[in-house]
Amino acid sequence: PATAHDLDGDDISVGGIPLARLADRYGTPLHVVDETDVRQRCRAFKAAFAGGEVVYAGKAFLCRAMARWIAEEGLSLDVCSAGELAVARAAGFPAKRIVMHGNAKTPEDLRAAMDYGVGRIVVDSTAEISRLAALGRRAAPQRLLIRVIPGVDGGSHPAMTTGTEDQKFGFSIASGAAAEAVRRVIGQRGFEPVGLHCHIGSQITSIELFERAAVRVVDLMATIRDEHGVTLPQLDLGGGFAVPYLSGDAEISPAAVGERLMAAVRSACASYRLPVPQVTVEPGRAISARAGVTVYRVLGVKRGLSGRVFVTVDGGMSDNPRPSLYGANYTVRLVGRRATAAERATTVVGRHCEAGDVIARDALLPADVRPGDLLAVPCTGAYHHSMSSNYNLVRRPPVVGVAGGNGRLLIRRETESDLLRRDVG
Ligand code: LLP
Repeated sequence: PATAHDLDGDDISVGGIPLARLADRYGTPLHVVDETDVRQRCRAFKAAFAGGEVVYAGKAFLCRAMARWIAEEGLSLDVCSAGELAVARAAGFPAKRIVMHGNAKTPEDLRAAMDYGVGRIVVDSTAEISRLAALGRRAAPQRLLIRVIPGVDGGSHPAMTTGTEDQKFGFSIASGAAAEAVRRVIGQRGFEPVGLHCHIGSQITSIELFERAAVRVVDLMATIRDEHGVTLPQLDLGGGFAVPYLSGDAEISPAAVGERLMAAVRSACASYRLPVPQVTVEPGRAISARAGVTVYRVLGVKRGLSGRVFVTVDGGMSDNPRPSLYGANYTVRLVGRRATAAERATTVVGRHCEAGDVIARDALLPADVRPGDLLAVPCTGAYHHSMSSNYNLVRRPPVVGVAGGNGRLLIRRETESDLLRRDVG
């Protein structure tokens, strides 16, 4: 059966249910997430990192059902706010398997993490180390990972590049800040530093860049062993594995990245006579992106002076800000009826009051697309619902989960009373 990612045929279905039927039942715009696809990708990563640890980056997409699937598949979970933690908690996600991230965790985030007893907190600044210390000691020391800057450029969009110097995440290895941070937490009562963390960015297509970062961080582990006599048992190499949005886009396979990263870590450790640490990876998009598809209804068709065809849909940058943020592009499919005309390059645009509110540029769509038609945009399971907004006071779409031929509402559509509830003035 077609997964949400490679929609094919006239009667496009996901998880055994035609998208047109889901659109009739739940309305549009609609996010659909294929539970089976999510679970399969979890298993592929688990198999590729057998003996290691796979942490799903909840920022890609999180709701209670998703947290349960992740928990059942044996993955750990990355949260980066008290809000994400609250969802994980409501799903009963095991505290020990939660990693808390964030370059600027608030005192509330940190308190929530410690109250729930999350397994690890990834420290990202000296101020945070002080804030954590000020929260007081718990029964057991809080395990920490220290996020470092490996000085590797992930080579994707600048807004997603996090492994280079002079950006806001982590402690610089090159400047000595990382070594200094390690010094501060080693031997501080109440803390147990268990490892180093790095994340070089997102939508990265070259495994070699991950290998380079891994070697750089193992090098720091060796220095820490030499200077402090401490052998850190964990190495978290972050996420960022690319998925294809358009046909022909590169992707990173879990098996290949698992094999090459583990080999790079083993060989770097051997050269320093370091024991091989437990390797952790944190895929977000690679787990959930392809499980998701968004369905819109066409509201209008226009032709510009130059001949460009604009198809307007009932969603836009409030449910998919990625084109305006990163210049992302998507494929689009007509759903629910057979086309009667040839395809032509079409610009699919949203309903928001901005010219940059575009869903897809030069998508190939039948020339007979008309108001009332349904369009499906695959590969929207990561960073779509989680980054959705109420811009123009548009209500955020629902998320429907499908599995075994059944659809189930996971997140309901927002209502106008949801929008008014916070307006208390
Ligand atoms: N670990 C850390 C510490 C991260 O910051 C992220 C993503 C991940 C793991 C997961 O990265 P992934 O495997 O999903 O690429 N909103 C952007 C991407 C920014 C991701 C931020 N951090 C997008 O829509 O493409």
